[in-house]
Amino acid sequence: MNSLDFAIRQMIDEDLAIVAEIEAGVFTDWYRMYRKPQDALAERTIKELRYSTSLDPGANLVAIAADGAMIGFVLARTWGEVGWFGTFGVATQFHGLGIGRALIEGVTTHLRKNCRIIGLETMPESGNNIGLYTKTGYAVTFPTLILELSLIQQADHLSGMGAGDIILWGGSDEAAKPGMLDGMRAISNAIVSGLDYTREIEAVHEHRLGETFVAMDGGSVAGFAIVRTVPYRGQDTTGRGYIHILCVHPEADTDAVLLNLLQQIWSRCTSTGLTLLVTGIGGRYQSALGLLMQHGFRGVRAAVRMVDRSSATEAFELSADMNLSRWAG
Ligand SMILES: CC(C)(COP(=O)(O)OP(=O)(O)OC[C@H]1O[C@@H](n2cnc3c(N)ncnc32)[C@H](O)[C@@H]1OP(=O)(O)O)[C@@H](O)C(=O)NCCC(=O)NCCS
Repeated sequence: MNSLDFAIRQMIDEDLAIVAEIEAGVFTDWYRMYRKPQDALAERTIKELRYSTSLDPGANLVAIAADGAMIGFVLARTWGEVGWFGTFGVATQFHGLGIGRALIEGVTTHLRKNCRIIGLETMPESGNNIGLYTKTGYAVTFPTLILELSLIQQADHLSGMGAGDIILWGGSDEAAKPGMLDGMRAISNAIVSGLDYTREIEAVHEHRLGETFVAMDGGSVAGFAIVRTVPYRGQDTTGRGYIHILCVHPEADTDAVLLNLLQQIWSRCTSTGLTLLVTGIGGRYQSALGLLMQHGFRGVRAAVRMVDRSSATEAFELSADMNLSRWAG
């Protein structure tokens, strides 16, 4: 086969079960080819897909063959004026027919309407993906470092915070919530102009996938962390949680605020049975990375981070701020 008729359209809720099936299939094939033999990946849950597509519904696309079968998909989201796409796949038997390129062009065109910075992450083993993204307008920038924090090994360092000192955005007074969101928006906007994590905070809460911890300094928000406690895929019994986002105000005492957030997270997560936290940080925030290591995080692997070449140039520059997040769904 060297050509195929297909069309790209926006993803709808009825597509999600097939998206879950194709995604698990293509990534099982990928892992078997590039990493090591393993059982088939469990599918992402529909709840997970519904949440990840809710942040910018128009950015999520599917490729449909002339016979009506779905053959590819791309998920994407925007955080204010920062957007990224992933997870992304084309059914293995249809690779090399231009479907992936069409999906990338569709999502990039959509994200360019509102975003100053557009990015993605991919696997370092996949030269083909890096080639494809390079041809579609993306450039390699600082890698993302993926880190783990063992809650068991860090018990001496992080335990001891009383339940009354844990501040959860979702558990706060309704009257206080909008002001806290404003404070969190101000932090992300101070780190990257236009970056806004507040819809993410609300979506994780609405879909009951985790919690947002808040560090206060007097009456102001000094930092926050969104922690995902519910697995992405159906059958994850590894006791892992994810620090999905963690930010500290550039003018705050970074080390003190970070320690406060980690102590809050430790107390809450160990009480619900989690033993390990996974997170990631873009390499442009590498001075923050040193601080994370001092608090017990260990590097486990890296991902290639790529940025649309029309993005604001700061995406290619070092930053002294603390901004943990991955551009990978
Ligand atoms: C990545 C993926 C979605 C691409 O989909 P696809 O439909 O096979 O891709 P396309 O046929 O549109 O694109 C192939 C293009 O990449 C280019 N390409 C492939 N390998 C390349 C390489 N090593 N160097 C340079 N370019 C390369 C091809 O030349 C072609 O470019 P062209 O459009 O100019 O001819 C698909 O391979 C896939 O599902 N992989 C497994 C899951 C995955 O890796 N997802 C992405 C995670 S970040």
